[in-house]
Amino acid sequence: MLRMAQVKPTDLVYDLGAGDGKIAIAAARDFGARSVGIEYNPEMVKLANCLVKAEGVAGKTKIIQGDIFETDFSNATVVTLYLLPELNLRLRPTILKMKPGTRVVSHSFLMDDWEPDERLSSDHGQAYFWVVPAQVEGNWTLRSADSKDAIDVRLEQTFQQVTGTAGETKRSLTKTSLRGDALEFSFDDNGTPVRVVARVNGDKMDAQVTRGGKTRKYVGTRSG
Ligand SMILES: C[S@@+](CC[C@H](N)C(=O)[O-])C[C@H]1O[C@@H](n2cnc3c(N)ncnc32)[C@H](O)[C@@H]1O
Repeated sequence: MLRMAQVKPTDLVYDLGAGDGKIAIAAARDFGARSVGIEYNPEMVKLANCLVKAEGVAGKTKIIQGDIFETDFSNATVVTLYLLPELNLRLRPTILKMKPGTRVVSHSFLMDDWEPDERLSSDHGQAYFWVVPAQVEGNWTLRSADSKDAIDVRLEQTFQQVTGTAGETKRSLTKTSLRGDALEFSFDDNGTPVRVVARVNGDKMDAQVTRGGKTRKYVGTRSG
């Protein structure tokens, strides 16, 4: 699971429902990350914190007693889950409000109709991986840095799936992708293919627009 999320030393990993702390411990011991496990069973919390000390990762890992539905984990860069389908689904709205780009891995269970970005089958069972997508839905205007050109774009979104239209003739977007805050799409502008590669930050996006082999910087703003 931790390999699937490409955990690195700069990450803060939260294991929701930490049990004996094995995932939180492995995140620190094997990947050098800081980690927090949230577990509501006090006996398991005691055991997990003993194992944290025994593994020599007390400087990087703590297991706290609490309810995953009441404890704030919004500063996590990686969230790991080995829960139940209904608990995953209850967590989903909170996870979708996390910073775009937050990585989520779940052992065994999905999050209903939020399709994972990756699936892995191994001797240990199934693991699923998602990247929290930026909220991009709405009407955007992309303006070139010299303000000489503007492109109107309408984006619709279902989790990380994006559809929409762009340009004066409202041509359908093709080759769309959204991974965290990284948005890409293409459209045909009166016979000229246009490719947009952007980083979304709230109601703004910084875009590189390639048209007829020439790439220019645009800034996008969302109007609603
Ligand atoms: C299947 S175990 C997984 C333990 C560990 N993460 C692992 O992978 O080995 C699920 C754990 O979640 C805990 N849990 C379930 N619901 C919880 C909640 N609402 N808040 C905190 N912990 C919860 C259970 O007590 C149990 O220890």
